[in-house]
Amino acid sequence: MVHGIHLEGGRAVSYRNRYVRTKALAAEEGAEVDPDTPSNTNVIPLGSKLLSLCETGVPYEITTELETVGPQDFGGNLPGGTMSAHPKFDAHTGETLAFDYNWQEPYGRYWVFDSDGEITHETTLDVSGPVMMHDFAVTQSYSVFMDLPVVFDLEMAMAGMTIPYRWQDDHQARIGVIPRHGDTVQWFDIDPCFVFHTMNAYETADTVVLDAVRYDRLLSYDLPSRTWSDMFNPGYLTRFELTLTTGVASQTEVAEVNVEFPRVADLAVGRPYQHGYSVEFQPDLVNSRGLARFDLESGAVERWEHAPGDLVGEPLFVPRQGAAPGTEDDGYVIYPIYRAAEDRSALEIRAAGELNGPAIGSVELPCRIPAGFHGNWVGL
Ligand SMILES: [Fe+2]
Repeated sequence: MVHGIHLEGGRAVSYRNRYVRTKALAAEEGAEVDPDTPSNTNVIPLGSKLLSLCETGVPYEITTELETVGPQDFGGNLPGGTMSAHPKFDAHTGETLAFDYNWQEPYGRYWVFDSDGEITHETTLDVSGPVMMHDFAVTQSYSVFMDLPVVFDLEMAMAGMTIPYRWQDDHQARIGVIPRHGDTVQWFDIDPCFVFHTMNAYETADTVVLDAVRYDRLLSYDLPSRTWSDMFNPGYLTRFELTLTTGVASQTEVAEVNVEFPRVADLAVGRPYQHGYSVEFQPDLVNSRGLARFDLESGAVERWEHAPGDLVGEPLFVPRQGAAPGTEDDGYVIYPIYRAAEDRSALEIRAAGELNGPAIGSVELPCRIPAGFHGNWVGL
């Protein structure tokens, strides 16, 4: 289910929600549509279209009214018709970079779309095997992929598990850097870890810098006993520095604050930046504690804690209208919040530079929005 809130002129114009018309939904209506993938992870603008995306799923085009137009394969130019849920938009060039991964070869594919939503470059990625690649990152000249030890497992697939991927000790963890419009990946060995989400990346003269939420270990599964472990470990924002001239990677933990859903301002994507935002989790590693704002230059972390029992989702940075170019944090942080005391949700708005100041606005919704994954601010 996609949720949309329309803000204009300082007030909320509308809230609506719609199911994406997948095969499963059509079947409930007695109709048959193809293909059969869910759509529950992210909503992005691409060219003039809005897309609803899912991990290794089919992109569904939806309207601004959230009605499903249908699967979108870009005129047949998206072989297999699938795309992962984490494309990146370069607001400076208008390009969108996207990828997908698969349990069979090619294990990774990568595309560049121009500002009209047309594919201008595509290549396969020489990933070492069928690894889970949930997210990636981009810089001005490069795209950055992660070949990490959570790997497709045929026995789990044969057992009918919906996510047949698990931690594998013998898989060498690597980060790969490919020129934005290139075909050859330069790989850097790193210590074992897993990453769901990147915060951002940028390049200097000879180095690519990647900031990502790093887990020491995640998604271990014991086949004989059919039990998961390492399902919930703490994730800490970590800076990887990849020196292109030497092929050597180093890493530094930014802060021991347990976070996920990291985001930056759209204009900061792929460029040197100072501020990032994320959800912070409780020590139980399941429920949210509040939001965190990272200053990547000073290392400072500002933390805002919500009321006990409430839950927040991914925070988006929205620039203030009229903000001067280059003022990265002149704007707002907006995020969905579930208010436990009222059993309903709201979209809350805070000044980006004063996370712990009073909320400067909220859209009180008539219902509860279940905890979700990702969203975006789209100027129509
Ligand atoms: Fe995600």
